[in-house]
Amino acid sequence: MGFYTKVILPSFYDYLMASPAREKARQSLLAGVQEAVLEVGFGTGLNLPHYPEQIRQITTVDINPGMTAKALKRIQSSPIAVNTHLLDGARLPMADLTFDSVVTAYTLCSIAQVETALGEIHRVLKPGGRLFFLEHGVSPDPGIRRWQERLNGIQRVIAAGCHLNRNIKALIAAQSFELVSCEEFYMAGDPRTHGYTYQGIAAKPA
Ligand SMILES: C[S@@+](CC[C@H](N)C(=O)[O-])C[C@H]1O[C@@H](n2cnc3c(N)ncnc32)[C@H](O)[C@@H]1O
Repeated sequence: MGFYTKVILPSFYDYLMASPAREKARQSLLAGVQEAVLEVGFGTGLNLPHYPEQIRQITTVDINPGMTAKALKRIQSSPIAVNTHLLDGARLPMADLTFDSVVTAYTLCSIAQVETALGEIHRVLKPGGRLFFLEHGVSPDPGIRRWQERLNGIQRVIAAGCHLNRNIKALIAAQSFELVSCEEFYMAGDPRTHGYTYQGIAAKPA
């Protein structure tokens, strides 16, 4: 992992991913989260201030040490105890049936082995546990989709493997989750190629 990914990208993301519309979405996404919580792709910790009051600790994984370094200040000033792990979300060492809630935000676009990671998320959730997701992905609009395909290669290079063309709802549904809710909309302030949003909850059958 080079200087750009470890040092420049975390600062860039920390700024870009904190838009007011996204902060509102994070707030509503996390309102129903219950302990025990795992966040995959913790990044610079932008979800942290939005966890409900009753959440006292979370476990997180991220593959980029630069992201975790950038998150430190936020972790130190949070009332939530954060147990960070430098790990690939596609290889979770946690035992089966450990968590009540798993959270991903703007991460399923970037994980190289996304199907494996979703399988791991399913494995570590308890029966009845829920995946809370806020992700961007492929648009149903053919014109936008064409541009997403055109821009996907450059996006993957400049944004550390981020894909513009993943169908997040279909990827989640393919892993034996029951979709509880999935809102789809263009995130205000984002270009349409980058802002088609999938926000929702998927449950592991009880
Ligand atoms: C766009 S950032 C989003 C960060 C944060 N979730 C947010 O909402 O601001 C994507 C994050 O996913 C992480 N990531 C990418 N591939 C990963 C993997 N295989 N396992 C764990 N984390 C990964 C990146 O390091 C980065 O922190």
